[in-house]
Amino acid sequence: MARNGDLTGEVHYPSQDIIRQANQPDYDRINQAMINDLAGEWGRIAKEEFEWFEPWQTTLDSSNAPFYKWFVGGKTNIVYNALDRHLDTWRRNKVALLWEGENYDQRTYTYHQLHREVCRFSSVLRAMGVRKGDRVTIYMGRIPELMISMLACAKIGAVHSVVYGGFSVEALHGRIEDSQSKVAITADGAWLRGNVVQLKDIMDEALQRAPTVQTVIVVKRTGQPVHMEPGRDLWYTDLMNLPIAAADCFTEVMDAEDPLFLLYTSGTTGKPKAIMHTHGGYMVGVATTLKWVFDLKDEDTWWCAADPGWITGHSYIVYGPLLLGATGLLYEGAPNHPFPDRWWDIAERHGITVLYTAPTAIRGLMRFGDAWPNRHDLSRLRLLGSVGEPINPEAWRWYHRVIGNGNCPIMDTWWQTETGHFMITPLPSTPLKPGSATKPFPGVQVDVLDEDGNPVGPNEEGYLVIKTPWPGMLRTIYGDPDRYVQQYWSRFPGMYMTGDSARRDEDGYIWVIGRVDDVIKVSGYRLGTAEIESALVSHPSVAEAAVIGVPDEVRGSVIYAYCILRAGVEPTQKLVEILRDHVGHEVGPIAKPTTIEFVNSLPKTRSGKIMRRVLKARALGLPEGDLSTLEE
Ligand code: WT7
Repeated sequence: MARNGDLTGEVHYPSQDIIRQANQPDYDRINQAMINDLAGEWGRIAKEEFEWFEPWQTTLDSSNAPFYKWFVGGKTNIVYNALDRHLDTWRRNKVALLWEGENYDQRTYTYHQLHREVCRFSSVLRAMGVRKGDRVTIYMGRIPELMISMLACAKIGAVHSVVYGGFSVEALHGRIEDSQSKVAITADGAWLRGNVVQLKDIMDEALQRAPTVQTVIVVKRTGQPVHMEPGRDLWYTDLMNLPIAAADCFTEVMDAEDPLFLLYTSGTTGKPKAIMHTHGGYMVGVATTLKWVFDLKDEDTWWCAADPGWITGHSYIVYGPLLLGATGLLYEGAPNHPFPDRWWDIAERHGITVLYTAPTAIRGLMRFGDAWPNRHDLSRLRLLGSVGEPINPEAWRWYHRVIGNGNCPIMDTWWQTETGHFMITPLPSTPLKPGSATKPFPGVQVDVLDEDGNPVGPNEEGYLVIKTPWPGMLRTIYGDPDRYVQQYWSRFPGMYMTGDSARRDEDGYIWVIGRVDDVIKVSGYRLGTAEIESALVSHPSVAEAAVIGVPDEVRGSVIYAYCILRAGVEPTQKLVEILRDHVGHEVGPIAKPTTIEFVNSLPKTRSGKIMRRVLKARALGLPEGDLSTLEE
C-alpha cells in the first residue's frame, strides 16, 4: 500500500459541467469573505437558509473561549428545520428516506410520512415523561426507527445518545451510565450477513448495572423471541398503536446552544468521552457543508453508506440531508451480502447520484475485482466521497476509475466526531490530488505545528491544529468541562488540537497522516487503546495489557495486543481465542485483537507510561529507536 502523503504530482481537474452546476462554485471568494468576517458570513447563511423562532443577538461569542457559543439567544429546533418546515412546500410528498433491508425489504418515507412517524413517537416519549434535557440511549441496527428515534428525541428537546449497534455490553453499559439515560430504545435484533445480532440480550446485560433506565422500548426487526422485562420493556409497535401516539405534537422551542446529542468517542486516555453538540450551530454547519461539498440538489439521490451510530451518520445520514430537503438512502446490511456487488446493485436500482463511504470499504470491495461493479449501470453517479482515514492513492484511483467511470470527483473529507462537520475537504470545483483532503472548508483556518508550536515548512510533518471557531464545533465533553479544555485546547493555547499529524504542500494542500495519540482507526472505526486494554485486564487471566495498531491492507490498522498473564496461567492458543472473544463481548467485534502476544514485561518509562512506540517497532520488526527513557 503506497503511503499517503506521497506527493506524486498527480492532479485531477473537475469538468466544466461539474463547476457550472456547483452550489458553491467560488472557493477563493467565499473563503476570503469568511476569513474577513467569519461571524458575518455564517450569520448571513443562518438567516437565509434556516427558520428561527426568535433571532439571535450575538452570532459568535468568544468571550469565554474555548467555550464558544454560536447564535446566542436564537431560538430554533433542528427538527423544525429538518422536517416541519418542508410540509408546507412541494417537498411534503418528496421521498425523504429510501430504506433497504439486508433481506431486500424496502420502505420509503416521504417528508409527510417521516414527519408523522416522528410526531407520533415524540408523543409517546412525552407521554412517558421524557422532557427537555433528558438523555435517551438508542442502540439499534440501520433501520428507519433509529432515525425516527433520534428525530423524536430532538423534537421534544431530549438529548439522544446513540450507541453504535456493533458495540457490546461494557461499551454500552459505560455509555448508559455516563449519560444517566432514563429511557433506552433498542430492537429485538439486527440483521448482519444473514445472522442476527442479539441487540436485546446485550442491552439486558448492560442494564443489569444501570439503574437510571426505567423504560426500554423495543422495535421488532428480526422477530426472534426475546426476553421482555415486565414493568420495564415495551414494544415500539404496541406504543405506536395507543392513543398516546398522537400525530400532532408540538416541536419544542430550543435555545441555539441547547444540547442536541451526546456521542461517545475514544480519546487519549481513560473512558470514551461524551462529545456534546447543539441545535443551532451544528444545524447550520452540517447543512451548509453538505450543500457545498456534495452539491446536493432536489434531483439527487444521496447515499451516505455509514452507520447512523457514528458522527458521519448523525450529520450526513440523519440531519444534513433532511435539513436540505434531500432524498437519502439507508441500507441495513453488509456491503458484500449476499454477493460482492450488493452496494453496486443498490446504487443502480435506487439511481444513486452521490455516494459517500470510507477507504476501508473501497479497499474491501476493490479486492473482489472490477467485474462486480462493471455489471451495474452506475452512470447516475456524479460525485463520490471518502471519510474516516487517509485514502491511499490505489484505492482512490480504483474508486475514481471503476465506480466513478473517470468522471466523478472524489470529495475526501477530513473531520471528526468533535468537529461535527467537514473541516478539510474539496468542493466540487477543487482540483484533486489523490490522498489529500485538499483545503480547509471556507472560513476554517488550520496550521501544522512543531513541538514548540511553530508552523513547520512545506511538506514537513507536524501537529494539525485549527485556529478559528466553527459553528458545529463540540461545545464540551458532557459532565467534564475541564477535560474538554485540557484535551483540546491546552497543548497549543488558543488552538484546537486535532490529535492528527499532517503535512501541507506548496499549494496549501493538506495531507493528513494519522493519529498522534492513543487512538486506533480499525476499518475507519475509532477505538482507544485504553478501552481495549481495560477489557483485556478485566479477564481473570490477564495482569497487564498494552495494545497498538499495526498497518493492514484493507482495514487500515488492526489491533495487536501484548498481555502479561497472571502467575500460573498457561499461555495457550486457546487462551488467545478466549481473550479475543472476551474483548468482543466487552467492547465489540471491531475491537477484537488480530494478534495477542504473551510477554513477561512491557516497555515503560520511569513514570510508568507504556512506550507504545517501542511496542510498535517490535511488532513491525523495526529499530526500537531511543530507549534512554526506558525503565525495563
Ligand atoms: C479521525 C476522526 C469524521 C467522520 C468519521 C471519523 C481520521 C477522518 C479523514 C480523512 C484522513 C481522516 C482522522 C480524524 N479521519 N477523516 N478524510 N483523511 N483522516 O470521525 O471517528 O471522530 O475520527 O478520523 O484521524 O482525527 P472520528
